[in-house]
Amino acid sequence: MRILVTGGAGFIGSHVVDALIENNYNVTVLDNLSTGNIENLNKKAEFIRGDIRDKNLDFRDIDGVIHLGAQVNVRTSLEKPLYDCDVNTLGTLNILETMRRYDVEKIVFASSVAVYGDPKYLPVDEEHPKKPLSPYGLSKYCSERYIELYSELYSIDYTILRYSNVYGERQDPRGEAGVVSIFIESMLKGKAPTIYGDGHQTRDFVYVGDVARGTLMGLNWRNKIVNIATGRETTINQLYTTIADTLNFKGKPRYTGAQEGEIYRMVLDIGRALDLQWRPTVDLGEGIRRTIEWMRRYLKIS
Ligand SMILES: NC(=O)c1ccc[n+]([C@@H]2O[C@H](COP(=O)([O-])OP(=O)(O)OC[C@H]3O[C@@H](n4cnc5c(N)ncnc54)[C@H](O)[C@@H]3O)[C@@H](O)[C@H]2O)c1
Repeated sequence: MRILVTGGAGFIGSHVVDALIENNYNVTVLDNLSTGNIENLNKKAEFIRGDIRDKNLDFRDIDGVIHLGAQVNVRTSLEKPLYDCDVNTLGTLNILETMRRYDVEKIVFASSVAVYGDPKYLPVDEEHPKKPLSPYGLSKYCSERYIELYSELYSIDYTILRYSNVYGERQDPRGEAGVVSIFIESMLKGKAPTIYGDGHQTRDFVYVGDVARGTLMGLNWRNKIVNIATGRETTINQLYTTIADTLNFKGKPRYTGAQEGEIYRMVLDIGRALDLQWRPTVDLGEGIRRTIEWMRRYLKIS
């Protein structure tokens, strides 16, 4: 069985590719390397350097698509909403059209907690109202709706996964990385990280290996929308302390003004994923240890 992974050279995508290959799938990766890194890519995967928006994609011999290729930066989406929509929504639509042309019947789509917007209640389940606060969240939500429509119209089978905040090995601390990598890099270099706001804001941090396993399982779920998270709420201050304790870093955080439009609390309900036999297995402490090990090698800091 051959699976096409878009964005397979990226942070999450490269872990998904590793998991697929470990499970004896044949893998083709489509990635334009805009933020991905070829060094991340498993040597057993076939690699096509290309764009998800290319109208002449060839899906011959592809049995299913895992679609992670995207513009992933919320700030970029606010500065360049047309670009964000072009890559994320029209890119997804182009993948669906190509699937239709080649009779590919299964898509697993990497959606995001960003589709929910400001929580009306916690934990946020899949039925929670969708009111994205950024073009990025909206382009993900539009993509979801196109996927559902294509399922109705053309019997394409889907799994939509709404990831919370993913962290782990290969998340590049440069650029627009997650807070976990940014804190680790900063502390490894002996600098106290900055916390925006009072640090009591919360997120649901999920380890990339668990996300990759859930994404693989998604190949066998039918027409489901599923939160992939831990169901645990962690404050940014707790995250800081966990990383600092692991590194024996004594510096105190620098606090500065809260970021405009930032959501204060977020944690996802993972009941549906649990019913489907997926559960997170790596807790924050262990995930942070693994990320630190990787980051030391990546930054060549002993
Ligand atoms: N990291 C998170 O916390 C998180 C949370 C929710 C959802 N997601 C989603 O998961 C997916 C993977 O994100 P990531 O964190 O690994 O980011 P990433 O930037 O590492 O991965 C995205 C990949 O897509 C590729 N890409 C971008 N535009 C492309 C295009 N036009 N054509 C082909 N390839 C293209 C990039 O080169 C990169 O390899 C994305 O769809 C993202 O929206 C991530």
